[in-house]
Amino acid sequence: MYYPEELIEEIRFQNAIEDVIGEYVQLKKRGNSYFGLCPFHNEKTPSFSVSPDKQMYYCFGCGAGGNVYTFIMQMENYGFIEAVKYLADRANITLPEPEMSEQEKRKTRIREQLLEIHIHAARYFYSNLHAKRGKKALEYLENRKVDKKYQKVFGLGYATISRNDLYHYLMSKGYQEEVLSQSGLVIPEKRSRGYFDRFFNRLMFPIFDVHNRIIGFGGRVLGDGQPKYLNSPETLLFDKSKHLYGLNIARTARKDQILIVEGYMDVIALQQAGFSNVVASLGTAFTPYHAQLLRRYVREVVLIYDSDEAGIRAALRAIPILENDGISTKVLKIPGQQDPDDYIKQYGSEAFKELIERRTYTSMEFEIELMIKKYNLNNPDEKIGFIKEAGKRLLQIKSNVAQEIYTQEVAKIGGIPVETLKKEMVRYQQIQPIHQNTIVKSKKEPLEKDIGLHKAQRGLLYILCTEPKLYKLLQKYIQPQDFTDVTYQQVAQYIYTVYNHNKKIDEAGIVARFSTLAEQQKVSAIFTGKIHFQSKEQKQKIIYDQIKLIKQASIEYRSRTTTDLKELQKLIEEKRQLDHMNISLLDG
Ligand code: CTP
Ligand code: MN
Repeated sequence: MYYPEELIEEIRFQNAIEDVIGEYVQLKKRGNSYFGLCPFHNEKTPSFSVSPDKQMYYCFGCGAGGNVYTFIMQMENYGFIEAVKYLADRANITLPEPEMSEQEKRKTRIREQLLEIHIHAARYFYSNLHAKRGKKALEYLENRKVDKKYQKVFGLGYATISRNDLYHYLMSKGYQEEVLSQSGLVIPEKRSRGYFDRFFNRLMFPIFDVHNRIIGFGGRVLGDGQPKYLNSPETLLFDKSKHLYGLNIARTARKDQILIVEGYMDVIALQQAGFSNVVASLGTAFTPYHAQLLRRYVREVVLIYDSDEAGIRAALRAIPILENDGISTKVLKIPGQQDPDDYIKQYGSEAFKELIERRTYTSMEFEIELMIKKYNLNNPDEKIGFIKEAGKRLLQIKSNVAQEIYTQEVAKIGGIPVETLKKEMVRYQQIQPIHQNTIVKSKKEPLEKDIGLHKAQRGLLYILCTEPKLYKLLQKYIQPQDFTDVTYQQVAQYIYTVYNHNKKIDEAGIVARFSTLAEQQKVSAIFTGKIHFQSKEQKQKIIYDQIKLIKQASIEYRSRTTTDLKELQKLIEEKRQLDHMNISLLDG
């Protein structure tokens, strides 16, 4: 992390959570807390609470919770550092310049220049489009029915027919050739030792990152010609596998879903038709980075691909990438061989809205339909092939409910009893290479045992935090390294350090030690998951069970990973102690 911990704490201290949240949510005082309508889910009665004492918030409706940093991160879709900057600014605290090595400084300097160069270039292209030399390009845009307003929103421009206009323009702004060629907008020509523009005689689409910085360009030929689109190469700024065209606008739409289309013009046409939540991957296959990026804003996407073979293949490849990141994916096949831009032009935006509402399939329906087409279900052998392929796919569905529903569906289509299909599926599971399945499982859906273990770790941390008196006793039985979950282990480490220095636990302060939203929410969940004990005996039993579970997993894990004989002996001793622990804890 960039900034010293004391500073992070100071900024947090200077931004009272009730004030910060009060700027977004109307809060009413009730007892020691404030209540309001949760900004993270739709509700009519307030279940969103803010505690000035703890400097934390928690929603009893959707489970969102955390400290002032988490709130800003969730609300503004910021990363941790951005939230720190925002809150520092709000409290008039000046942040120190981060320490950088010479090399880092140079790189940062070049990045800054590249960003400037892209702004200059975009302005230049824009002015071309509106000058006499841009007449043809502007006509082309008008033919394609892009309104003036949206030409501007997307900063569209024109690279003239001359081969080094931009080069000369940028040189006149005082940039070095070396930096210009790093921008990817200018290409050195070895033989003549001259420089040429990458883009000429093209309609220009600036590519923005989520913070509205221009990081590259796409250029389309006017009319026919090859290649139809030319994009910026990979540069210090631009990596097409990590950016989505239009996300800078779509993310501010605050809709529950984002539409993913194939092309630049589709994004523009949809925006113009009133769909504010649309993005396109930049002439590249969908990547896990794209999924991660989208996941910061929505939990559902609609893939809108051309219904040609390439489009279907692209959708099929994107589905597992998205779903693996927990994004539920629907698919819309546009009737005919049209893309969204063509469709809207022909049938209007209302018709397109209907398509989205009525004609989207779940990813599973989409896949099953493709399988049905692939096999001739009147032929017994092919029908078996269908059942086999569908059955294997069904095994990958994570939700039990969804799996049940689609299993019934497939059984019906295959004309066999559900029970028979289920038996078959068990067989496939055994035949499938085990590692494949476990990787998928362990990544997103922990086994039952792990869920229990997580719960125990969380529960024990809660008790450690809220009952300092128990610490002396508990620390005899359990150490931070026994927490097998990395995040929980860090929390435990912190709690132990604080107690060992005879200090008090500050819950919101613990949360602030973590820099990703996912971690912060996970840590917040420790404090919001209150445990009610019915009796002293029950409490001891719960604590005992928790310690036992955690310790057992820890011993198991360490004995699996160690090769050191001494360590093994120690583990055996620990295991022996664990088996006798019951009595000692109840005595204490
Ligand atoms: N693309 C690309 N390079 C190409 C062709 C396509 O990068 N040579 C990308 C562009 O982002 C383009 C998208 O793939 O927008 C979809 O391509 P295509 O369907 O061929 O074009 P359209 O978007 O329909 O373009 P237009 O409507 O302008 O003809
Ligand atoms: Mn098109």
